[in-house]
Amino acid sequence: MEEKEIIERLENLENKLRFYQQLGAGFLVAAQKKPTDEGKLADELVGLKTEPETRPFQAEEWEKLIRRIRDCHFCPLFQGRTQAVPGEGNCQTKLMFIGEAPGRDEDWQGRPFVGRAGQLLTKIIEAMGFKRQDVYITNVVKCRPPENRTPRPDEVKACSPYLLRQIELINPRVIVSLGKIAAEFLLQTNKSMSDIRGHFGEFKGIPVMPTFHPAYLIRNEGNREIKRLVWEDMKKVMKLLESS
Ligand code: URA
Repeated sequence: MEEKEIIERLENLENKLRFYQQLGAGFLVAAQKKPTDEGKLADELVGLKTEPETRPFQAEEWEKLIRRIRDCHFCPLFQGRTQAVPGEGNCQTKLMFIGEAPGRDEDWQGRPFVGRAGQLLTKIIEAMGFKRQDVYITNVVKCRPPENRTPRPDEVKACSPYLLRQIELINPRVIVSLGKIAAEFLLQTNKSMSDIRGHFGEFKGIPVMPTFHPAYLIRNEGNREIKRLVWEDMKKVMKLLESS
């Protein structure tokens, strides 16, 4: 096996263990700890930790990243934007919400989820017992697609390094993905939202709860069942956060 492949496999194993640990199965990680030299070496290689991560927040890296997003010319969406929308909230939070792309209001204000869907998202966050500024809210794509169309795969790909770095620097305990584009990106799936919502998936060891996009709730305003399902999903997120 090539060295690169071994490292990749160890990283995948680390992510899986971290994911199960986040879901409460800490004994799986503890079981990997051996007092032997061999055990120590394995732990060092995969960087396993039984304690929650307490690495310091890299404020300068974060500022640099936000500046790069604001100045980005990676894909043609920069031509139609008023401004890029990097995201907002607490960049040292346990809980991250990830949507699709800015709409008209967001493009205008330079802030994510400030239109009707955003107001609903704020209500959901508050119902969970948080303030909007306690969590971090961002999108897969940072510039508004024309006429609010769904971002194209090449736009998602061009923008992806920004979201990857945001997740890496924030290192949240849980991510909530809002709608299909975010779920597809984080969970690498093309299953329908109805099939995947309500179950934790995993992104680099971080539990991801896919749920319906608030705009979908608004489009189906009279449908109480969809609202109930979203609330069920959020209760699972709250439970996970309480236990971690
Ligand atoms: N919809 C999104 O996905 N993101 C926003 O920021 C606003 C609406």
